[in-house]
Amino acid sequence: MPFIGYKTLIEEGDIVLAFIGRDAIKPIRINSEETLNTRYGVFPHKSMIGKRYGSQITSMKGYGFIHLLQPTPELWTLSLPHRTQIVYTPDSSYITQRLGITNGSRVIEAGTGSASFSHSLARTVHPHGQLFTYEFHESRFLEAKKEFEEHDIDVVINHRDVCKNGFEITNYDGGYLNADSIFLDLPAPWEAIPHLPKVINKNEKVGICCFSPCIEQVDKTVKALIEHGWTSIEMVEIQGRRWEARQSMKRDVDDAILRLKDVKRRKLEGIERKRKFYADNGDNNSKETENDSNDVREKRKLDEKEQTKVEKTEFNPFGRGMRVLEGDPKYNWLKVSKNEAELKSHTSYLTFAFKEAVANL
Ligand SMILES: C[S@@+](CC[C@H](N)C(=O)[O-])C[C@H]1O[C@@H](n2cnc3c(N)ncnc32)[C@H](O)[C@@H]1O
Repeated sequence: MPFIGYKTLIEEGDIVLAFIGRDAIKPIRINSEETLNTRYGVFPHKSMIGKRYGSQITSMKGYGFIHLLQPTPELWTLSLPHRTQIVYTPDSSYITQRLGITNGSRVIEAGTGSASFSHSLARTVHPHGQLFTYEFHESRFLEAKKEFEEHDIDVVINHRDVCKNGFEITNYDGGYLNADSIFLDLPAPWEAIPHLPKVINKNEKVGICCFSPCIEQVDKTVKALIEHGWTSIEMVEIQGRRWEARQSMKRDVDDAILRLKDVKRRKLEGIERKRKFYADNGDNNSKETENDSNDVREKRKLDEKEQTKVEKTEFNPFGRGMRVLEGDPKYNWLKVSKNEAELKSHTSYLTFAFKEAVANL
């Protein structure tokens, strides 16, 4: 089962994520009659069959390569066809752990949207739990349903307006879902919250997360949560900042002085060599050489270049003008870390709340 389990070798009919570059991951269904065209060349699906997931393959012309990756919910989030805004992994992973969603959890999600988070939730609750997801937009509902079937993912998907009609499903266990976690990514979660008591588990602590881009939505959501008996309400925002760890070359004033002295020495040596060359051979503009043929003049120029050349010095405390590998033991290095100046832009506010089991009240 892709997305949930792992397999080793690529076979006809498998879904493969072709990693073309960091911003270009293309999902393909292996069909030995087809080819994948990329900016790095043409890759026949036939050449992928029998390869291990994770392999690098070369294009038909022998240059340019791509990697063939196993589909996971995290990679799917980066490659899926967008039908809506989606939940990305920094948010989905935090929500999953904060609500305590695990194998065996029964989760309600609305709306399904592009099914980015649905793939991750379905994998987490598998095999003993169940994901119930709701989408009122017909074509999005149909697309998501088809995707779940194609990806062999066990999800109960419903075409329903949860704000108007709630979450009960007539053809599922009498409509009683016994959900222990709720995730609402809707424009008006406060309209769906009053419908939840009919479908949540009364015998266990239940958690909810509402995902809203605007603070005004958070305000209305918090009011609805309080009104319907939810407690431990807290709103958080996930902000990712990338840190880079590297080595920076240590430079001090003594090195700078040595470097300047070395530049001066090489300059003087060059002048001295030229002076000697002109004394021995004359230069191309002097009276002695003005009758020489072009060939003789050309040769003199080459000789001048050769005989007045000052060899490049090995000494270079800054590595300037040279390719120095980070960490080269010939130089002194300092371990430094650098972070992104700008935070990634705001995605959404995450409002969490919980309801205790009836027995604990
Ligand atoms: C932002 S998208 C959800 C994206 C999804 N979380 C993901 O990661 O791909 C919101 C979805 O909720 C659906 N929606 C809005 N109001 C709804 C309602 N009352 N009932 C069901 N779905 C609704 C919209 O059609 C839209 O597809």
